[in-house]
Amino acid sequence: MPRGLFITLEGLDGSGKTTQIKRLAAWLKNRGPEQPGAPGLASETWESTNLVLTRQPGGTPTGDRIRALLLDSRSTGLAPMAEMALMFADRAQAIAEVIQPALDQGKIVLCDRFTDSTEAYQGGGRELGSEPVLELHRLLCANLQPDLTLLLLPSLEASLDRARRRNERASAQTGQNENRFEQEQDAFYRRVWQKYHEIAAREPARIVLIEGDLTIDEVHEKIVAAVSARLLTASRTT
Ligand code: TMP
Repeated sequence: MPRGLFITLEGLDGSGKTTQIKRLAAWLKNRGPEQPGAPGLASETWESTNLVLTRQPGGTPTGDRIRALLLDSRSTGLAPMAEMALMFADRAQAIAEVIQPALDQGKIVLCDRFTDSTEAYQGGGRELGSEPVLELHRLLCANLQPDLTLLLLPSLEASLDRARRRNERASAQTGQNENRFEQEQDAFYRRVWQKYHEIAAREPARIVLIEGDLTIDEVHEKIVAAVSARLLTASRTT
């Protein structure tokens, strides 16, 4: 059986990734406009016959526990190396438990963040550099590469504003605390932004960069165009 298709979504907090991945999942499921009853992205992995939707950190029971530890603003003093190691622990578990088995069954896997996030946030934001991230990826993730990565980069200001407001609302409503990264200074996010650009320039064949402050529909159209083109290539080569 041919390997399935591995698609990742990347971007800054507040870039609209989660909205877009849900719409893309609905589109892939129906190969048409979003229908009522489309999947939501809960903490658990959502799965249908030929599509798996997951996220990092999280997406497995172990990963959800790692996510809680990583994102809770009460996890103070977490060393950057420890943070990076936890991101990879989560990822190694997700690959073993969810991603690789689904790809082996020929499914499409949609993943909200993958190793580009570690390179951008820990490599760039925390200034650990790209090399340790890529090295750990080779060692712990068998260098698994997405077939396509959609990188959403609206303006830094708009993303941060949206992310911070959203998390304040979520904390007030659910008591859940996922604010640790949003509390970082703008300089941290500027380095993340810069590193994402660097990765996109290094890997133009894999990464489709969607920049600027576009509407949700405009971004969705660009995503659908990129995914359709990739599906067409995949169908020609199998
Ligand atoms: P989310 O809100 O998109 O689910 O992302 C969770 C946070 O974790 C987000 O601020 C980015 C951060 N993160 C990293 O710093 N490194 C990583 O490898 C991943 C996957 C996420």
